[in-house]
Amino acid sequence: MPSPLQGKHIIVGITGGIAAYKAPYIVRLLVKAGAEVTCAATEHALRFVTTLTLETVSNNHVYTDLFDNANPHSTEHISLKDWGDALILAPATANIIGKYANGIGDDALSTLMLSFRKPTFVCPAMNTQMLESPALHRNIDFLKSTGVNIIESTSGELACGATGNGRMAEPEEIVAQVEAFFTSSSASNDENKRQYNILITAGPTYEKIDAVRFIGNFSTGKMGFALAEEMAQRGNKVFLVAGPTHLTTKHPNIERIDVMSACEMYDAATRLFPTCDAAILSAAVADFRPDHAADYKIKKQSDQDDMTLHLVQNPDILATLGATKREGQRLVGFALETDNEIDNARKKLTRKNLDFIVLNSLHDKGAGFGHDTNKVTIIDRYGNIETGELKSKQLVAKDIADKLLRSLP
Ligand code: CTP
Repeated sequence: MPSPLQGKHIIVGITGGIAAYKAPYIVRLLVKAGAEVTCAATEHALRFVTTLTLETVSNNHVYTDLFDNANPHSTEHISLKDWGDALILAPATANIIGKYANGIGDDALSTLMLSFRKPTFVCPAMNTQMLESPALHRNIDFLKSTGVNIIESTSGELACGATGNGRMAEPEEIVAQVEAFFTSSSASNDENKRQYNILITAGPTYEKIDAVRFIGNFSTGKMGFALAEEMAQRGNKVFLVAGPTHLTTKHPNIERIDVMSACEMYDAATRLFPTCDAAILSAAVADFRPDHAADYKIKKQSDQDDMTLHLVQNPDILATLGATKREGQRLVGFALETDNEIDNARKKLTRKNLDFIVLNSLHDKGAGFGHDTNKVTIIDRYGNIETGELKSKQLVAKDIADKLLRSLP
């Protein structure tokens, strides 16, 4: 079968890290897959790998200088962005990630990246301490929320002699992920394929105590947003009902409805579900809310040692949708369990009339709230159980999307 990269125009952006020595190999693999490749390299990248090597493997001019009159594309950062079908930034240093996330264009590559609007893959490579810096996390989170694909680094021996996370993903893995992306998006462009309306809930809910306080939880919404992005990229229309989160979405197929509390989420979800083919409820909904929310700030009394909040139960959104589900509609829930996980998840699946349930692991490092990775077990109504590896939330979203879309009429 021909590679989905056959005939594609791929820009490989290279920055100044030791992993730049692997960039020519990425170019070779892309060319072997039938792609036409142009490299765009920073000045620092060219200290690790030469223009001659890149020109030889890509059989193309290397774009390095904003003001080079010999460039075949005049104002190249603009015309190259039209030429490219995808851009792979490998290796991506903390510096280019910072510039890209903050809109800084001060050389040929960063300027090109700012103007590029097509699928972009960023392959971080750096020392573990840099990788773990809060600033880098914020920048990567921001890029992910705008739809940039991050091909995660792996653990191993680093150039500085230390061992840890920060090694760029191997060239074969990078090219495989780009191929997988184009395989699923070409499947979604198949004209005979139906486009579905999908309802997704994501993030936490905040239950108001008074004018300045609430009861909430640690959910960030990353899993639900990854699902929304995945479903939208496959050509479906997504209604994303989001609790309070800093995440953003740009995909034109996503209609976002922001809510605060479980009751608001309930109203939006029950209104939208009848028009949808399927719903995935990944939100961490508060089970209880204060029975009365003060519209002023509650003051403590000087002699007051304790305080009691009276809570009442919130409506169960998932169970409500399960009870009203039409023939042909599909409903997916999430479960977070600490004991008798499989057994409890199965009971939830039956009680809420679901088609399948995604069980989150709390016992695995790197899975669950706030992480970029997740490890899930999917249990369906026919009793099938599939346990996945720890992987990025984007890849978990692909697995869930595959299973759900396969099951839709
Ligand atoms: N859920 C919902 N509305 C609620 C509570 C939960 O839609 N009021 C959904 C969640 O989005 C998730 C699933 O139900 O898809 C399971 O949530 P979870 O908190 O694991 O289970 P609960 O039903 O709340 O049960 P418990 O807290 O007792 O485990």
